[in-house]
Amino acid sequence: MIENVDVVIDLQSGDTGKGKVAYSLTKNTPRGEYDYCLRFNGGGNAGHTIYHNGNKIVTHQIPVGIINGIPSIIGPGCVVNLFKLEKEINELKSFGIPVDDLLLIDKRAHVVTGDHLTEDGRDTLIGTTRQGIGPAYRDKYSRNGIRVGVVAELTEFSKYITDVYELWYGKKGIGILAEGAQGFSLDIDWGDYPFVTASHCTVGSVLLNGIAPQALNNIFGVIKAYETYVGAKDFEPDDPELKKLRELGQEFGATTGRPRQCNWLNLQTVKQAAQINGATHIIINKMDILEEVGVYKLYDEKGTLRNFKTSRGFMEYVERFLYDDVNLTGTGLIEQVIWSRSPHEI
Ligand code: IMP
Ligand code: MG
Repeated sequence: MIENVDVVIDLQSGDTGKGKVAYSLTKNTPRGEYDYCLRFNGGGNAGHTIYHNGNKIVTHQIPVGIINGIPSIIGPGCVVNLFKLEKEINELKSFGIPVDDLLLIDKRAHVVTGDHLTEDGRDTLIGTTRQGIGPAYRDKYSRNGIRVGVVAELTEFSKYITDVYELWYGKKGIGILAEGAQGFSLDIDWGDYPFVTASHCTVGSVLLNGIAPQALNNIFGVIKAYETYVGAKDFEPDDPELKKLRELGQEFGATTGRPRQCNWLNLQTVKQAAQINGATHIIINKMDILEEVGVYKLYDEKGTLRNFKTSRGFMEYVERFLYDDVNLTGTGLIEQVIWSRSPHEI
């Protein structure tokens, strides 16, 4: 049985530093706590940038926990591009990571085909990552998809194929770190439709991968001290300070290299996302970048832009909002708010 599942989940529009949080958790949590790291949604549209032993490693489909030697699963809720996966496997191997001993793919995950990539490559409406994600999920739901277990059987990928049910429900005391991709505002149901991805990016998505709700424990909601979005809609107001934020924060996509549109922290979104995901911890990354720009602005719960004189004033306001307002009206679960200034570790 699965005894404990912690979740890393994005409360904004992606690119909040989830990978860094998952890396830090799998590195610093005592061995044995996490038997597996699990990706539960999306596919090659994600890009998690990790600094490990002086190397910069970018993963797209494989959970970050693999870098710390944790057996890592691409779950049944994911879509997989096998050609890109091979590249990713080889890159991880070049850093000395024993991928063949650690990588597992649930047989139920769906395959991203060449046709999916071609079709998504023509997208101009949403500004997708062109990784075939939308067409692959569409074919899954219209029951025209292909499960990875079927095609991989005949290839060198067969050694990675698993059945998470057999893996998790055969023995006792299993611990899992579930690593989310994309973010709340990109969720197919809760996001800003149609400017969304094709998968579920909330905690509910973890359960869809074969995990019973009672096993959920810590929910690490991750945000940045400001917000970014990549895609076709207008998101960034005309403001030179936001352009500065993009440069100093190096806000360019890990998957596509596209400049990310920037805006100030939006507490309306964070509140909704924290409540719906049942966040127990809020990790706020990149406070150092806001301090470098030296401008402390946020949209409060009513959508009004507020300006703070100091970093401390900004942080106190955010903490009070999360601990008091969000906890009073949500499930009352936020135990800890953690600020991160370091670019590489939480
Ligand atoms: P898709 O997931 O490639 O279909 O793209 C749909 C929308 O989600 C686009 O606006 C993408 O830029 C955005 N998106 C998808 N994956 C990520 C991610 O990992 N980080 C940030 N934005 C993403
Ligand atoms: Mg990313």
